This record gives sequence, C-alpha cells and structure tokens, in this order.
Amino acid sequence: MKQSVKLIAGNWKMNGLAADLSAVVHDLKLALQAEPASCRVAICPPATLISRLADAVRDHPIEVGGQDCRAESHGAYTGGVSAAMLKDAGAGLVIVGHSERRQEFGETDLLVSAKAEAAVRAGLAPIVCVGETLQQREAGRAVEVVRGQIMNSLPQAVTGQDFAVAYEPVWAIGTGLTPTLEQIEEVHRAVRAAMLERLGLASAAAPILYGGSVKPENARDILAVPEVGGALVGGASLKAADFLPIIRAA
Ligand code: PGA
Repeated sequence: MKQSVKLIAGNWKMNGLAADLSAVVHDLKLALQAEPASCRVAICPPATLISRLADAVRDHPIEVGGQDCRAESHGAYTGGVSAAMLKDAGAGLVIVGHSERRQEFGETDLLVSAKAEAAVRAGLAPIVCVGETLQQREAGRAVEVVRGQIMNSLPQAVTGQDFAVAYEPVWAIGTGLTPTLEQIEEVHRAVRAAMLERLGLASAAAPILYGGSVKPENARDILAVPEVGGALVGGASLKAADFLPIIRAA
C-alpha cells in the first residue's frame, strides 16, 4: 500500500514548563532549518503550553497538538478542554483514546469515537490510539482486541479527513519493551484492514503510527516496517537530542 509522508509526534504527557518547551523548540527549529525533516513533525505538549508552542512555530512546519479533548463543545465541565478550544489555542491535531486515559479515566471506545468526531468537527486531525494489554497479548488476543478498538473508536466522520491511528501496546509504553518487528507488522496490517473495512478506501492514506518505547536506537528499524506510517513518541520527545534522531530516522 502506498504510504503518505510519515508523521512523528511527540506526546509530552504531564511534563514540561515554558522553559522546557523553549529549549526543545529552539534546538528543533535550528536543526530543522539547517536540514528540513522529510516527515511531518508534531509536538503535543500539556494544554497550558499549546498557545505558546503555536506562537513559537508560527513560521515553521512543526505542528501543534493536544493530548485529549472532551467530546462536548462547551458547557459545565470543570477542568475540561474542548476541541474548539485547542484549535483556538493554535493546535491542528489532538490525541484521543490514549491508553493512559482509557485506563485511568475509564474511557470507552464509544467515548473515544465521540472525541474523534468532536475533533474533526472543530477542524482538528485526531490521532486515535489503540493497543492491547500484556494480559491480552499473552492470551493471543492482540489482533482481535486492536481490531475491535478500531471498529468502535473510529467514527465515520474521519472518513476522507486528515487523521491518524496510533498502535500503542499498553505494555510497551514507558517500559523500554517493544514488540518484535514481526509483531508490529502483524498488528499494523490488521489495523489497516480494519480501517478499510470500517471506512473504505477514502482512509487508505491515513498513517498508522507505532507508539511505545520508541527511541533513537530502535526508530529506524520500526519506521521501516511495512504499514508503519510514523511514531507517537513519549519519553524520547522531551529532549531534542533524543527526538531529533527519531525525526531523522523517518
Ligand atoms: P513512551 O510513550 O514513548 O514513553 O513509551 C509513548 C506514548 O505513550 O505515547
């Protein structure tokens, strides 16, 4: 299958203050101005830093993303952030359905689907995350679980829109463990097949990112796996010295 340009997105989670962002963006901009990236590059900082990041990369191709949004457009949801608010702050992307939110906040496929739909409605490109737990993999259910998450977490509204899926095995996130390249290929092929079944050919160009302990040392091999259309990078996106080699590997 023809792959569009890869997307390397940094997920900062609940890390980073203004000074950290300035340092990383300064180094990234310098390096990418000297030698442009051959992939799309995005940073998803905490919501507090989104408008600051958007200002800092105004004349630069680094993209800006949120880490979550509510499904509702507005209302009495103390602490909530809507997709339109992220867009207004300067984001173009938003991660939805990350396993940390599915686990800690009990987010279901249905809710993730509603969030992805809200993102599209607000003009954001959602990055919809899926992935099996260690228990599910050990039971031989990885492909089945991920397939179910795709069928139920991807709303029809993303069809033909700019969006991405991220395959992130829960047991590989922040652990230093990664699946074998064969296991990554097997799941990515299953994800693509489920996307085509659910949304048809109009979504064939949407990249499927791999996420979970992507590092400078393993990025090149992982990004060369068929159907791997980029990476969602947690820990290694917090420092330019780690994030840049991953960008260069794409
Ligand atoms: P990690 O996180 O790269 O630190 O494993 C990835 C993610 O959770 O998106």
